[in-house]
Amino acid sequence: MQVCQSVASIRKVVASYRLQGESVALVPTMGFLHEGHMELVRKAHEVGDRVVVWIFVNPTQFEKSDDLAAYPRDLDRDLAMLKAEGVDVVFTPEAYEIYPEGSETIVETTHMANMLHGLVRPGHFRGVTTVVAKFFNIIQPDFAMFGEKDYQQLQIVKRMVRDLIMPIEIVGVQTVRERDGLAMSSRNVRLGNEDRKAALILSQSLDHAEAMAPTRPTVTELQNQIASLVSKEPRAKLEGCDIVAAESLAKIDGPIDGPTAIMISVQVGPVLLIDQRVISP
Ligand code: PAF
Repeated sequence: MQVCQSVASIRKVVASYRLQGESVALVPTMGFLHEGHMELVRKAHEVGDRVVVWIFVNPTQFEKSDDLAAYPRDLDRDLAMLKAEGVDVVFTPEAYEIYPEGSETIVETTHMANMLHGLVRPGHFRGVTTVVAKFFNIIQPDFAMFGEKDYQQLQIVKRMVRDLIMPIEIVGVQTVRERDGLAMSSRNVRLGNEDRKAALILSQSLDHAEAMAPTRPTVTELQNQIASLVSKEPRAKLEGCDIVAAESLAKIDGPIDGPTAIMISVQVGPVLLIDQRVISP
């Protein structure tokens, strides 16, 4: 497995793949990898001849510099995991090359970035699309893999690629779950025994919402059902429940009538957990 630190070196490696007529699948990450990332890598192997992973803790998507400084990092462990998954090359650039002195160009989905999760983290999705566009320019992959767990991010990146007519296929990858249904997350290790059991309320309430779908419930009915289920679990508190059109993330009035995304965030003990499901009537 090769490791490239400069833009020039990763471009050279990718150009050599192209010369051999090989396609490239890209896995974007900020490092500190877990099973969810490994699933993205496995899917990348399925769609592309070569798999490129980037590890870059992107400063522009953090609101506070403290959060950026506190972001966990373990490059040696990450590289060992990627090597074991047969990754071809890892790109780990320095921030000064990605954001050259005096950088002023941004990429933003003006509407989709400023709704839902974007309202609580202003500027976050602008930071994501800006860095993703830069890496797409550097690597020019055929495919790029994004987890469905960060559902709004996935839809925003798809919209950016469509709007900017980038010849890249964005592949959404299903959330990896523990056997009992809990979505995998690096945060799960912070759940004590009782909280770990209580955390099942996320997938259970989404199962329940999915079972209601054929009856074409309204958004309010779905929200009430989810809120009532979560309230029965004393260790859990529902923090957010957004139900929107699956592709545009637009608000829905009245009964659901097409693919609908449900995004929930639930505080379980000390940990804020998220989960998501797309349902159809
Ligand atoms: O999902 C992430 O880890 C990040 O938002 C991404 C896509 C790597 C951009 O920094």
